[in-house]
Amino acid sequence: METLVVDHPLVAHKLTTLRDVRTDSPTFRRLADELVTLLAYEATRDVRVTDVTVDTPLAPASGVRLARPAPLVVPILRAGLGMLDGMTRLLPTAEVGFLGMIRDESTLQAQTYATRLPEDLSGRQCYVLDPMLATGGTLAAAIDFLFDRGARDVTAICLLAAPEGVAYLDEAFRGGDRPIRVVTAALDERLNENGYIVPGLGDAGDRLYGVV
Ligand code: URA
Repeated sequence: METLVVDHPLVAHKLTTLRDVRTDSPTFRRLADELVTLLAYEATRDVRVTDVTVDTPLAPASGVRLARPAPLVVPILRAGLGMLDGMTRLLPTAEVGFLGMIRDESTLQAQTYATRLPEDLSGRQCYVLDPMLATGGTLAAAIDFLFDRGARDVTAICLLAAPEGVAYLDEAFRGGDRPIRVVTAALDERLNENGYIVPGLGDAGDRLYGVV
């Protein structure tokens, strides 16, 4: 599995403010949105394109357009929704599917509570949005779901990742037939006993949307 930690001063700057406990929800939402667009730029380096020719006012010019079928962007509810606009700004022709997953805080196991995705994902490149790669359980379940429907490859875009989560995904998707990548702004130190990333940024859903 490839893990790409995007090393860029703008990414580091935005992430630092996201981590800061004093950052309020409106600022957090705006910065998360901007950060995702920067991560999406790197995450889509291998997006499939087809060759086309267009006419400039002067002459024909060769170029590319995104290939069909369009990429599928899948935010994991609820916190992944805070990453959707930042992603579709860069990939406006992508389709969007939704996966509702919740982590049982006592067992830390992921459960699916909502799905709105095409039945057949054959040949699709999928981009899963989940701000926090913590234990890896939620993301692995979501990625499994996409491969079961035929996804060609899956890239997970996460604001932050823990080494434990990266190792979990690496193990779960070892072998070449289900290719995955993780693109993140930082690989943090560890998980604490409650499954939170340390130093992390706290509960991403609560910081985006408030405690509900
Ligand atoms: N989910 C979060 O929102 N934060 C963490 O640190 C881990 C999981």
